[in-house]
Amino acid sequence: MRDLSNLHTFRLPAQCFDFVEITHTDDLTTLQPREPWYLLGEGSNTAFIEDFQGTIIHNALKGIQVDELPEFFRVTVAGGENWHALVSELRSKDINGLENLALIPGSVGAAPVQNIGAYGVEVSQFIELVTAWDVEKRHWAYFTPLDCQFGYRDSIFKQTPGRWFITEVSFLLPKNWQPVTHYAPLNDLSTPVTAQAVFDKVIETRQRKLPDPAVTPNAGSFFKNPVVSVEHLKALEAKLPGLVSYPVSDSSVKLAAGWLIDKLGLKSLSVGDVGVNPQQALVLINNGQAQGSDLVALAQEIQDRVYDVTGVTLEPEVRLVGAHGLIDL
Ligand code: EPU
Repeated sequence: MRDLSNLHTFRLPAQCFDFVEITHTDDLTTLQPREPWYLLGEGSNTAFIEDFQGTIIHNALKGIQVDELPEFFRVTVAGGENWHALVSELRSKDINGLENLALIPGSVGAAPVQNIGAYGVEVSQFIELVTAWDVEKRHWAYFTPLDCQFGYRDSIFKQTPGRWFITEVSFLLPKNWQPVTHYAPLNDLSTPVTAQAVFDKVIETRQRKLPDPAVTPNAGSFFKNPVVSVEHLKALEAKLPGLVSYPVSDSSVKLAAGWLIDKLGLKSLSVGDVGVNPQQALVLINNGQAQGSDLVALAQEIQDRVYDVTGVTLEPEVRLVGAHGLIDL
């Protein structure tokens, strides 16, 4: 048995039956885990709800390589590298593009899994190739962006959990960089906007709104922003003036789930030591001694209360792991 509380940022009390650390790609080719297993990076998008009766396979692969092409930098990164350390290192080398994604917790290998995104940018925009080991069928595979089937917080890797152990991600970062500033609070940066200014503003905003997992354990946005039809939005706007939404297509929009939780007065809810983050209600927090069952109970309560008023079901963004693998709320 191995303690998992330090291996995920929500820091729930849980253990796993077996733990395998991958520090070299050869470790994968000889790996034959017994079911169930779970692939883990830095545990910033996973909550271990109870003891996991299987094997955790932890990505500890390291290495960053930068190649200069005529119009791009190609940056090839091992899956176990820390995401923000990569973004900071590229900033110090004046290689731009990922600055809107500064300070997102987690590993590089996890970035394509949930297609991390913030402030108008998604990582999928910069991915050239994802290299992964198929843990089930035991062979190497190479995914172009099209193969990855990227969507909002979604990819083929998320759809087939446990199958693809991402060893390497290569990014193409254009030398002809353009800032992405259409999202508040980047839209009032003074021009000409520099990559350093975007990087600094994103960090300042995240530090103000989102709890530092090293201080207050959490797993970032707990729910995804739900996508609804324009008709549904119109009906909701009549009921909830000021409702925040973002266009997705001609017929659908994404609702700001944090706004809904906040305006429905659910910030004060708590179960045991699990509460709602006061600065950004989409984030659930562990106030100290939280149990997995508290997190599930609070998330269900929020889901029910939002559904009763809006008819919208909030889906968790965080992956919940029970005794035998992934569980639904
Ligand atoms: N809002 C409130 N009250 C709240 C929370 C939000 O009124 O308690 C309002 C905000 O004022 C804003 C709107 O809701 O008008 C949206 O809030 P925010 O800009 O903070 O973004 P979000 O949609 O809640 C998403 C991502 C975040 C990412 C931000 C910034 C998801 C699930 N979350 O949050 O990603 O940092 O945009 O672009 O898409 C994460 O995935 O873990 C994460 C933190």
